[in-house]
Amino acid sequence: MTTAVFPAAPEFRSGTDAGRANHRFAAAARPLAAVTGAEIQAPLIQGGSARYANLDYGASAPALSVVSAYLNEILPYYASVHRGAGYASQISTSVYENARDIVRDFVGGRPDDSVIFTRNTTDSLNLLAGCLPLRDGRPAGEVLYLDIEHHANLLPWQNVPHRSVVAATTLAATVDRLRDELARGGISLLAVTGASNVTGEILPIRALAALAHEYGARIVVDAAQLAPHRRINIDADDVDYLAFSGHKLYAPFGAGVLVGRPDWLDAGTPHLAGGGAVKDARLDSVSWTTGPARHEGGSPNVLGAAALARATQMIADLDTGQWYAHEDAIRSFLVEGLRRINGVTVHQIFDDPAPAPSAGGDEPGAGTIGVVNFSVEGYDAGLVAAYLSAEHGIGLRDGRFCAHPLLKRLGLPAGSLRASFGLGSRLEDAERLLAGLQQLRQTGLGWDYVVDAGRWVPANDTRSYPHWAPNTPGTAGAAPCTVD
Ligand SMILES: Cc1ncc(COP(=O)(O)O)c(C=O)c1O
Repeated sequence: MTTAVFPAAPEFRSGTDAGRANHRFAAAARPLAAVTGAEIQAPLIQGGSARYANLDYGASAPALSVVSAYLNEILPYYASVHRGAGYASQISTSVYENARDIVRDFVGGRPDDSVIFTRNTTDSLNLLAGCLPLRDGRPAGEVLYLDIEHHANLLPWQNVPHRSVVAATTLAATVDRLRDELARGGISLLAVTGASNVTGEILPIRALAALAHEYGARIVVDAAQLAPHRRINIDADDVDYLAFSGHKLYAPFGAGVLVGRPDWLDAGTPHLAGGGAVKDARLDSVSWTTGPARHEGGSPNVLGAAALARATQMIADLDTGQWYAHEDAIRSFLVEGLRRINGVTVHQIFDDPAPAPSAGGDEPGAGTIGVVNFSVEGYDAGLVAAYLSAEHGIGLRDGRFCAHPLLKRLGLPAGSLRASFGLGSRLEDAERLLAGLQQLRQTGLGWDYVVDAGRWVPANDTRSYPHWAPNTPGTAGAAPCTVD
């Protein structure tokens, strides 16, 4: 275990239960839910090991334990869906179709909303891009988006008529810019993130939905980051389409979802041409079906959809006050601690405080989810990430977060660091990060690092993976990193 050298807040003496119980960050003393892998040990470069501090939930969250238990329970009944008369097939079909209703309830969907299972948010947004309305065979309008978006909510729109808006330094002024652009007319869809994957700042989706509708456009919310952190109600907020990924929502089994109004989806280009998506196929022509099946050609990911639905049920049962307090305690502790370390800068997009989430009222920490972005003066982000991993057993993300336009505009063209957390996190994870950074500032790196295939890695790394994992850490990043 690494030694905590971060000067703890006066009311929080690190490492003592009594200290934790009595301070203002007590809500995060323990994880809020059990997740798989919570106690794995990460080998350290200087010898020994530390409990792996997973501060990378924003990339992919660990599975909830209830999700993995559920999968074990239903796995023996896994069989073909939709077309089988057998007992297991019928059970699998019911699990798959029921998952749609569970997910629809989770996001407060309208009864007639389509719930289409996809691979992930990227897939969902690409699917929607193929369903934009046409007039006389041509796109009926343009898609409007901000420059703060993840590539998943930016690149699909570049293939269709579009306009982009550079976000202002305040959220209020950014909304004004969107209003001006909508008022120019011709926008059919406003595509916006629910929460930034770079900084965690939440966008006011209810207000943006009202704005889009005022000018005759629809809205799609990229909820990849929002859904794991906040209650969403698309009916109450009048959101037309919502996309998110199972692997960020504690169900990493390959399913994502697009929920929304059926008319565009039923008329759009089938996302995956193939079995199950048709009413009738002839040798050189086809009549496509409507409903989710239109876009779900081929054998669906039954277990992925079931896992996603089970995760949403568990999250729906959370007490929102407790949920937000847990996350906000870790976030406040981390941000306050980072600001006290010389040479560490915390980054955000907007200068004005983000408003409360539409469905979250004024719960604590409502304006920012469990994502904190920062950089350390004098060090490449990738080097800091390699150091934190090798010397402290901490996993976090470095790079440009698939949001290149935003990082460039924030003056971070080479990238920054992102700590992100969720239901399985505890205050100690943030404490470990602060201790590691403090040590870096005070005594520097404790090991030599080299760039290998575009990534910083410890030199002469002899740590090994579990016997079933193919690579040693020194060769794991052999492919140049292209997913930053
Ligand atoms: C805000 C946001 N949108 C979209 C995506 C893409 O998600 P996926 O890789 O699951 O398609 C991500 C992933 O990081 C994200 O953070």
